[in-house]
Amino acid sequence: MNSLCVLFLLPFQLAGHATLIVVCHNWWYGRLIGRRLTDAVQLIHLALLVLMPFLFVPILWDQYPFVQLIGQYYSYLSLAGFGLLIIVTIVRYLRIVPSEVVCLGWEHLNPQSYLGHSGSGPGWRGRLAMIPGNDVLHPVLRRYELNLGSLDPLLNGLKILHISDFHFGKTPTREWYQAVMRMCGLESPDLVLFTGDLVDGLAQHDWIPSTLGHLSASSTSVGILGNHDTWYEPKMIERRLRNIGFQMVGGSVLQIQLRGKPICVMGNELPWRGSQPVVPEEFKNQFLIALCHSPDESTWAAQNGAQLIFSGHVHGGQIRIPLIGPVIMPSRYGRRFDSGWFRIGKSLLHVSCGLGGSQPVRWCCPPEVTMITLRGSGHDQSC
Ligand SMILES: [Fe+2]
Repeated sequence: MNSLCVLFLLPFQLAGHATLIVVCHNWWYGRLIGRRLTDAVQLIHLALLVLMPFLFVPILWDQYPFVQLIGQYYSYLSLAGFGLLIIVTIVRYLRIVPSEVVCLGWEHLNPQSYLGHSGSGPGWRGRLAMIPGNDVLHPVLRRYELNLGSLDPLLNGLKILHISDFHFGKTPTREWYQAVMRMCGLESPDLVLFTGDLVDGLAQHDWIPSTLGHLSASSTSVGILGNHDTWYEPKMIERRLRNIGFQMVGGSVLQIQLRGKPICVMGNELPWRGSQPVVPEEFKNQFLIALCHSPDESTWAAQNGAQLIFSGHVHGGQIRIPLIGPVIMPSRYGRRFDSGWFRIGKSLLHVSCGLGGSQPVRWCCPPEVTMITLRGSGHDQSC
């Protein structure tokens, strides 16, 4: 292979190499592995990402025959990885939003107007959050209408607020979350659904009443925990959420009453916690909602009759590269369930980008909360 050919192929090989590492990383990160192993896997993948491109350097091939042998095979593999990137990206563009979903638009919440300051925390995290282009402090409210033909007329117009992945930590501040939740409260949701990952530290347990308490005091609120919660006294988090009015459904099924109609909500915190709940026969004809922290559990929820499934966990990838989309996605399905709406069998799945993240970095992927209004067939458009 002449040097001109090597130079021409190099960008595609590097892109393909990065794709292979990311695919491997996402697969591992979507599995049940301990926190230490998760950190180790991240480090290994980072090292491979940086070091393996040296296999493409022809000068090393002359000095070390084994590098040439591995390098040649890995060159072909990385080109296949580039092909995979192109195919997956095209498939993503061809994705069709379920016909029941009507997007009503989105708006910036601007918690800074409440606070009078940015809401960034102290230290390097706060400084990182303030870098122009970082969306961490700029949440959006997305609005959707769901046209469900079989919806009970009494539930027509029911407003569901989906919130997820707060990751209370050092950035943004408690005041920032309080402002965002107050703005959500102004929307007067009938039902608040929280799909896990509330805290990233024991010290942040104290934030729960002052951030979510206002919302849960005025709306029926149901929640589950996420994988990060399991690292910081999950039973204590559940207790604190129950104390402010949340009904926790991890590994169980709950019947709630809204507008005089029974609605079932089931929770699934797998693969980190509990088990898949069994839906009692008498609940199977009712309107059934599933909360699954990971969208990987959405297939189970669809098979068990959930009409609506709500998930978080993947944060929309946090960094979305223009044209390509998200990269890091802790899911067995890779980038398939990144954010927004999906049809799984007869069910509709909504995956939230969440409000926070362990690392205060978001690019082309702002924090979000979602307001969903249910509509039955033949509803009055003026209501
Ligand atoms: Fe999360």
